[in-house]
Amino acid sequence: MCGIVGYVGSRPCRDLLIAGLEKLEYRGYDSAGVSLLDNGRIESVRAVGNLANLRSAVEAAAGNGTVAVAEAEATIGLAHTRWATHGRVTEENAHPHGDCSDSVHIVLNGIVENHSELRRELASEGHIFSSETDAEIVAHLIERNYEGDLTAAVRAAFAELRGHYSFVAMHADHPELLVGARQECPLIIGLGEGENFLASAIPAFLNETRRVMQVENGDIVVMTPDGATVTDAAGGELDREVDEVTWDEEAAEKGGYSTFMMKEIHEQPDAVAETITDRLPNVDSVDLSELDFTNERAAKLRRVVIVACGTSYHAGLVGRYAIEHWARIPVEMDVASEFRYRDPVLGPDDLVIGITQSGETADTLAAMRLARERGAHVVALTNVMGSQATRDANSVLFTRAGLEIGVAATKTFTSQIAAMYLLGLWLAEARETLEPKRIAELIAEMKSLPHLVEETIESTEAQVRAVARSHFEGRFFLYLGRNIGLPVCLEGALKMKEISYIPSDAYAAGEMKHGPIALLDESTPVVCVASDSPVLDKVLSNVAEVRARGADVIAIATDGSDEVAETADQTIFVPRTDWVLQPILAVVPLQLLAYHTARLLDLNVDQPRNLAKTVTVE
Ligand code: F6R
Repeated sequence: MCGIVGYVGSRPCRDLLIAGLEKLEYRGYDSAGVSLLDNGRIESVRAVGNLANLRSAVEAAAGNGTVAVAEAEATIGLAHTRWATHGRVTEENAHPHGDCSDSVHIVLNGIVENHSELRRELASEGHIFSSETDAEIVAHLIERNYEGDLTAAVRAAFAELRGHYSFVAMHADHPELLVGARQECPLIIGLGEGENFLASAIPAFLNETRRVMQVENGDIVVMTPDGATVTDAAGGELDREVDEVTWDEEAAEKGGYSTFMMKEIHEQPDAVAETITDRLPNVDSVDLSELDFTNERAAKLRRVVIVACGTSYHAGLVGRYAIEHWARIPVEMDVASEFRYRDPVLGPDDLVIGITQSGETADTLAAMRLARERGAHVVALTNVMGSQATRDANSVLFTRAGLEIGVAATKTFTSQIAAMYLLGLWLAEARETLEPKRIAELIAEMKSLPHLVEETIESTEAQVRAVARSHFEGRFFLYLGRNIGLPVCLEGALKMKEISYIPSDAYAAGEMKHGPIALLDESTPVVCVASDSPVLDKVLSNVAEVRARGADVIAIATDGSDEVAETADQTIFVPRTDWVLQPILAVVPLQLLAYHTARLLDLNVDQPRNLAKTVTVE
């Protein structure tokens, strides 16, 4: 979830660029940098840590007078906040990155999938790299293709890249030109008077201009102080609409959505992509080398134990199905607040995964520490760099969802599920429990998840809003599911309780007849997760059972499951994927249902009563 700001105009832009980065801080970052072009030279200042560190580095450069950036004269430049993916968190790996002669500088958001092969190719041609990043190869590719025309060089470089990314480039020979390109990651043009901006999100330039032009996938942007032209990859000019943004300061922070929660629901495709893409570098293998855990050790594991609280616990439950099914290893799952007081039996052949988006939840941390004391290898699955969980664990696997401000977890949940899928496939590969061909099929499906999450949000929202309108005054919601659909129900019910304050319960559908069926009457909405799974026919029997009591059944089903539509009162379809991957899509309409119900009840979804984002007391 990096941030990009570019400027070309007539004003000195160093401070404008850093102010733009400040507006993107919510995305989370671990280092930052700025490059300016002045008098035919491009120079950079970069720093690890927050923007205060970048400002101090700029001041220090001013002190020794060696860096043009410090003089703040330049009227064209690029700036970036980085969230490390390829390469450690170091000044060298911070953006902007340059080519061999510092003639081209670029900033990039996202991931270049074919960076290893391009790096090898460029290195064999004599290019010298100064960072470990995938982004740097883009500067060298532009250098290789440059024959006096920056736009042509960017176009040629763009054609050689695979992945999801957007980038902006400038060249020392062109003091009034920025060229950007977009493939899946956001890039937005801000049009001023005699000056223009190119950024990863509108807040970066909203204090300067409100006229914006959206850049679409595959577009190349050619920007000067006088305007911006958008072309396709072949150079054909494209018509892109100019909009006037009417957001106030508060709406700007929310990216134009009315709440952080809705903004974060919409950030899920990006968050999932950031979490999985560079960990799936090949068609048939998962790269989790960051865990520092050998295949030999993985093959000898006796058991996986997952500990977490709340929504993170539900992500762990989804992971349990994936790991057991793919890697054929027993998985034990417990809420951290129980596990830690249970005197659990643990040893060196256990892999303990502590899931905590904040990395600061007291019970999860205590459970992880206990597991470590008892000799298990502990992995922290977290979204926050430098959090306590990262210090308490033997290894860390980061989700890369960016900062989540809404108290109800949404994008961190789907990113956690994505990370659990990675762990499941990685264990299956190490333990040779799946054929390489099957792993390749699942990886291909995983790679389409960001796009499918986006499709799910778009295709289900209107229908979910209508369901919310029918039921928001109800006194109770019941969620039913089986197998991998059950954790989706638990999460749906938690979201409903948490933000709409409507009592809600989630049950294993097979348990209904053992008591809870007594709760049902004609006024009860029953949300049934009936997505594809080996037990779909059993779920359908439960739906029939519930409908026989007059309850109104809203089913979440996989596209094309006509039998679900025939059995339920209403069916909300999510796109088809492998059944183990369905939860990451099926939960989206349930997040939206809780959201719209709470909004209809006029509740503050971002800050529900009695709840805080991080629970650090026991
Ligand atoms: C629900 C929610 C909580 C958290 C739980 C654990 O929307 O946000 O249930 O999931 O408090 O928090 P972390 O993951 O930070 O340990």
